[in-house]
Amino acid sequence: MALNDFDLVLFGGGGDLSMRKLIPALYARDRAGDLPPAAKIVCVGRHPWSDAEFVDALNANARLHIGDKAFSQAAWDKFCARIRYVSLDATDATTYQPLIDALRNDAKLTRVFYLAVSPTLFAQICHNLAERGLATDNSRVVLEKPLGRDLESAKQINQEVGRVFKESQIFRIDHYLGKEAVQNLLALRFGNVLFEPLWRREWISDVQITIAEEIGVGNRMGYYETSGALRDMMQNHLLQLLCITAMEPPLSVGADAVRDEKLKVLRSLKPFTPTTLSRNVVRGQYRSGHVEGKPVPAYRQEEGADPDSNTETFVAVKAEIDTWRWAGVPFYLRTGKRMADQLAEIVVRFKSLPHSIFAQSASSFLPNCLVIRLQPDDGLQLNLMAKTPGDGMRLKPVELELDFSETFKTPRMDAYERLLLDVLRGHLTLFMRSDELEAAWEWVEPVLRYWEQEGNEPIPYTSGSWGPAAASALIGRDGLQWREEVLPE
Ligand code: BG6
Repeated sequence: MALNDFDLVLFGGGGDLSMRKLIPALYARDRAGDLPPAAKIVCVGRHPWSDAEFVDALNANARLHIGDKAFSQAAWDKFCARIRYVSLDATDATTYQPLIDALRNDAKLTRVFYLAVSPTLFAQICHNLAERGLATDNSRVVLEKPLGRDLESAKQINQEVGRVFKESQIFRIDHYLGKEAVQNLLALRFGNVLFEPLWRREWISDVQITIAEEIGVGNRMGYYETSGALRDMMQNHLLQLLCITAMEPPLSVGADAVRDEKLKVLRSLKPFTPTTLSRNVVRGQYRSGHVEGKPVPAYRQEEGADPDSNTETFVAVKAEIDTWRWAGVPFYLRTGKRMADQLAEIVVRFKSLPHSIFAQSASSFLPNCLVIRLQPDDGLQLNLMAKTPGDGMRLKPVELELDFSETFKTPRMDAYERLLLDVLRGHLTLFMRSDELEAAWEWVEPVLRYWEQEGNEPIPYTSGSWGPAAASALIGRDGLQWREEVLPE
């Protein structure tokens, strides 16, 4: 579907996210021919750059962020011709005149304000846009995470932004929803008859959702230290993956149909109690160690770190969904930095065989398992038992493997490319609604309060491991193991 002409304003235009993700994503869609010829990109920041100086700053790392294969100097130069840079103080409406001058004065034009800035600025920027008459009926606002730091601040953001923009104009980004494999999960569940009848407590033993990163906090200490893994990854990415895995079939892929179902999942999450807070949540922080054979420092020794920091870089949680479909099925969620591997996956483990007709006992059979892999590549794996060839009847675990980049040779789209196209088209399905955001905060908030009140120190884990042993104990108490702990060598 062709895009209507637009002006896109990127607050935080000179920032890290813009340079690494947003500008490369826009370049990629321009190169693919998706952007209308007159579409404009206006980057906004405090730094007093001219257009040419800003483009110079982009040039310095463009090839690195876009990648050699996707980079074409001619396409890049053509793309840069769309870019303007405006220097202003986002908190001061009286400095907005250069932005007004840079935009086309056409109320029918789609106008997108992408706020890749601290959430403490969201309300003020929206207010200033309204005051300067920039927020037209055809405007949309995109809010980058973190969307608040607790329920109260998230509600405040929703309220303040809602004074200027209608809910249908607000795009709350969670880039995990833009990942190919997440969309494929919808296709798998609702485009096939095979799994849906089994997708329930009668047949599923447990679900594990892991986002493991090998990287540390890098140069984001300023942000990360006040955030931690629970706010940075669990409240948003992991819960969104849980919603897509657990939701009931929506009426359609329309925005509210999908978001209504996700909201029901969030509202059915069993609230934490004092007992489950201490038993079902593990908080960790990486110590020094080796990742991919290279020595790496402890979190507390990273540049700019507080040497006594109690910020968690790992969190594992056992969640339960109180519905007819899922009662009694544990959902184990975990995420960590400086882990043994770089991977993101959803593991749906089916129940054990009720009875064996073979010489092998039923307990020697590995339960069937469906793995939806998001990273490093997107694919599906189905673990089955099969007979080993030859005489006799011995069964052995085998894997059915589907690698989407092998199956579909077409070029992949980065999550931000897809999400930006959706913003420009006005499609809200892959963006969080205000009530969803608040429900997610409501569920994690008791954990934050518990840690604050109990002074709960994170458990150290060695960089390059799978996190604290307590995470294995968390799942082990239910007689289960994380997938990598049961994988055959
Ligand atoms: C971001 C977090 O939202 O997601 C980062 O702030 C994290 O800390 C990143 O590294 C992971 O995203 P991806 O797409 O690289 O898995």
